[in-house]
Amino acid sequence: MIPWELLDSAQVPESGEELRLYQRGGDFSIRVDGRELMNSRTHGSEGALAELACVRIAHRPCPRVLIGGLGMGYTTAAALHRLGADGQVVVAELVPAVVAWNRGPLADLAGRPLQDARVTVREADVARILQAEQRAYDAVLLDVDNGPAGLTWKGNDWLYAGAGLDAAYAALRAAGVLAVWSASPDRAFAKRLCRVGFEVTEVCVRARGPRGGGRHIIWLAVRMS
Ligand SMILES: C[S@@+](CC[C@H](N)C(=O)[O-])C[C@H]1O[C@@H](n2cnc3c(N)ncnc32)[C@H](O)[C@@H]1O
Repeated sequence: MIPWELLDSAQVPESGEELRLYQRGGDFSIRVDGRELMNSRTHGSEGALAELACVRIAHRPCPRVLIGGLGMGYTTAAALHRLGADGQVVVAELVPAVVAWNRGPLADLAGRPLQDARVTVREADVARILQAEQRAYDAVLLDVDNGPAGLTWKGNDWLYAGAGLDAAYAALRAAGVLAVWSASPDRAFAKRLCRVGFEVTEVCVRARGPRGGGRHIIWLAVRMS
């Protein structure tokens, strides 16, 4: 068995934690303090997050999509695939090193989405962008952690709580879609989405897409007015 090789590491801003990038042959893994956040072998549900949301808004003129965070770029690539030439994708990534890795060793995994002229990268907490912009996006795609439960970064609590969901609602245009990825079901979170005013659909997707794998959850929450 080939051992994993450590390629690089970086501190998570405003947190004591360390993000590490590993490679084994053609596979890559991003880990936080020893726990795997993401592996390049499994990205079907990351693509589904973008596909399920963007299919609902791609027909609009100049659709704008906000993605938090970048990871290995699979959600970003899937959004670009679904949107037309007039689409715009803003990617918010908290850890600047992740952006550098996506321009370096990870670039080819998802087909170099950061080189697409429709993409703007912001090295920032997606929460700050949601707080600053109103009625700015047709879709907001959130995959910043394992989901509403089991957070890697305590700082992401806010995003999945009432205040964060209110901000996401306000950042969306009429009939805009908030799509949230999760490793596991969470009934309380679905209820919170409804309380904010979203119309909510819960979709079970497979980690490896048509090849099966674990079951992940995507909530599609539509702003009603
Ligand atoms: C599980 S990965 C995302 C995987 C991504 N969907 C893909 O297709 O590869 C989570 C990413 O979110 C970033 N992140 C975590 N908290 C964030 C935040 N508050 N704002 C922006 N990015 C964040 C992490 O650094 C990491 O790159």
